[in-house]
Amino acid sequence: MTYKDIYESSMHDPEAFWMQAAGAIDWDKTPSKALFDENAPFYEWFSDGLVNTCHNAVDRHVEAGRGEQAAIIHDSPITGAKSTITYADLQTRVASLAGALRAKGVGKGDRVIIYMPMVPEALMAMLACARLGAIHSVVFGGFAANELAVRIDDATPKAIIAASCGVEPGRVIEYKPLLEGAIKQASHKPDFCVILQREQSRADLIPGFDFDWHEFQQGVTPADCVPVEGNHPVYILYTSGTTGAPKGVVRPTGGHLVALNWTMKNFYQVDPGDVFWAASDVGWVVGHSYICYAPLIHGNTTIVFEGKPVGTPDASTFWRVISEHNVRSFFTAPTAFRAIKREDPKGELIKGYDITCLRALYLAGERADPDTIEWAQKVMKVPVYDHWWQTETGYPIVGNPAGIEALPVRIGSPTVAMPGYDVRILDEGGHELPAGALGAIVIKLPLPPGTLPTLWNADERYKKSYLTTFPGYYETGDAGMLDEDGYLYVMARTDDVINVAGHRLSTGGMEEVLAAHPEVAECAVIGVTDQLKGQLPVGFLCLNKGSEASNEDVVRDCIKLVRDQIGPVAAFKLAVVVERLPKTRSGKILRGTMVSIADGKPFKMPATIDDPVILDEVRTALQTIGYAKD
Ligand code: COA
Ligand code: AMP
Repeated sequence: MTYKDIYESSMHDPEAFWMQAAGAIDWDKTPSKALFDENAPFYEWFSDGLVNTCHNAVDRHVEAGRGEQAAIIHDSPITGAKSTITYADLQTRVASLAGALRAKGVGKGDRVIIYMPMVPEALMAMLACARLGAIHSVVFGGFAANELAVRIDDATPKAIIAASCGVEPGRVIEYKPLLEGAIKQASHKPDFCVILQREQSRADLIPGFDFDWHEFQQGVTPADCVPVEGNHPVYILYTSGTTGAPKGVVRPTGGHLVALNWTMKNFYQVDPGDVFWAASDVGWVVGHSYICYAPLIHGNTTIVFEGKPVGTPDASTFWRVISEHNVRSFFTAPTAFRAIKREDPKGELIKGYDITCLRALYLAGERADPDTIEWAQKVMKVPVYDHWWQTETGYPIVGNPAGIEALPVRIGSPTVAMPGYDVRILDEGGHELPAGALGAIVIKLPLPPGTLPTLWNADERYKKSYLTTFPGYYETGDAGMLDEDGYLYVMARTDDVINVAGHRLSTGGMEEVLAAHPEVAECAVIGVTDQLKGQLPVGFLCLNKGSEASNEDVVRDCIKLVRDQIGPVAAFKLAVVVERLPKTRSGKILRGTMVSIADGKPFKMPATIDDPVILDEVRTALQTIGYAKD
């Protein structure tokens, strides 16, 4: 069958298409149908089935005789550690951890926050929760205590599972002070914490509240998998929206299993037993879907890589990992390749490694610029597939269906819609636009299985954020166009979200932090183009009238404030003090125009601008930090 046949069958008869895909999953009770649309616009899939994610990701492979196959390879150039965990080991370790959590009262529906670096135990913690039907929420290690506190208050976890530390190049990040700070700040208090002690820095445990990862498992009865309904959430993953309050994306169990499993062969071209590597972090959706769940559900070997594309120890790390572990398909963010290209522009380092095991490179998480794609193709000598998706969907919306049929690559486009996704382009009034016209990228409802059914405890916010602007469609927040052949081009975000090194961040959230500085009367944060990270945030600060603080002091304080409140991952290192912000006559800050000035791009003077002179002040301020070059 061609891609076109498969795509059309998913559109004409989604019931048959998804029920057939569901056949690859082990159900405790087979669902009676695929789509449950009784509560539209809240759609659910496989709701009346009973199933367990951990059984499908671990136990069934052991039962099928794959027990001795590697499930997880941990490769940590940053600590020097390397280990392999078979499916049989994984089953034993996850069942034991789940048993210990159950003995402390964690059960189906309870939330558990996981705050861990790239160690295999992070995956075990996720799987142990899934085994019990508990709902995990992984928080990325690069977020500050405040962000963790916000998530604790929203998810109200019964327990938190954390490591004693993470390791970044040149520094060990102690997690315990961040964790304690967050628990102190949050109104909700978990019943207990489980701490994985790492040798790089051991944490002091609070007796009766903190339990050592190993000790608390001693003597417990291992837990079996608890079947849950198809619509039961397997996890909540917080992502940036327009405000500082992150959105809790809910992932439903049944659709997640079915859809992720489908993508592994049809999209990422791997068969059970093949090694699949996604170089991301478990704190992001890529890590949830393609480090943890999809490869394990599909019976692949996954790599947990604790390192960076450069500097651990050099720009050849990716090539070493691919060749040493026989990686078949590799997934990362374009920023990682920009970093490698910058260090080793001629691709000399790859010559020392045999990477003929690799079939393709998959890039996502941010726009893949043509230079990066072409460079990667040239040095790696494999097809490079850009693909586009988001935390909300959990797996590709648009990509090259290489496992079915490799379509010709058109550089600049992540290719075509995946089965189940009816992607359209609308104008501001909600009218469908013809091929070649730029507009809002939307998906006609219902979204396919595995995508978010709602936001955690926030049905109204879900409707307002995604379903209200264009009734009948899901609003992706991206703008772009479709060409005559259905190839999508993703151009920009339509909201205040920016993408820094493949990390999705909210400029609105940063503005909230800056506005809390006592000397700051008004502020704006924009995302400017950066050669390495794609975008970088730049803050504009207007100080209070009569403020006696020096500009340098306020800028320094503000940079520290964002690092302390949001975290180092915000990469907020650039801010300028300006007298006024450019606005429309109705008071809307002209952020888009400021971005054009910073990037040196031509722009049309907004007809509604209040005072055009302010744009010159913005340009002058940006020039002091190396932007807005003439
Ligand atoms: N825990 C604590 N701190 C973290 C962290 C973590 N898990 N991850 C990142 N940070 C810190 C970094 O140390 C850095 O701190 P610094 O300001 O003191 O230097 C800061 O957050 C920014 O991190 P990041 O934006 O990731 O940049 P980087 O300097 O670590 O380098 C590149 C990253 C440029 C090499 C980039 O190519 C890369 O690999 N980014 C990650 C891509 C990715 O996995 N995206 C996920 C979506 S697929
Ligand atoms: P996240 O939810 O963190 O995965 O971020 C999703 C957002 O990243 C999308 O809405 C896009 O703005 C951007 N993005 C992800 N992949 C791509 C891609 N291949 N091309 C362009 N933008 C992308």
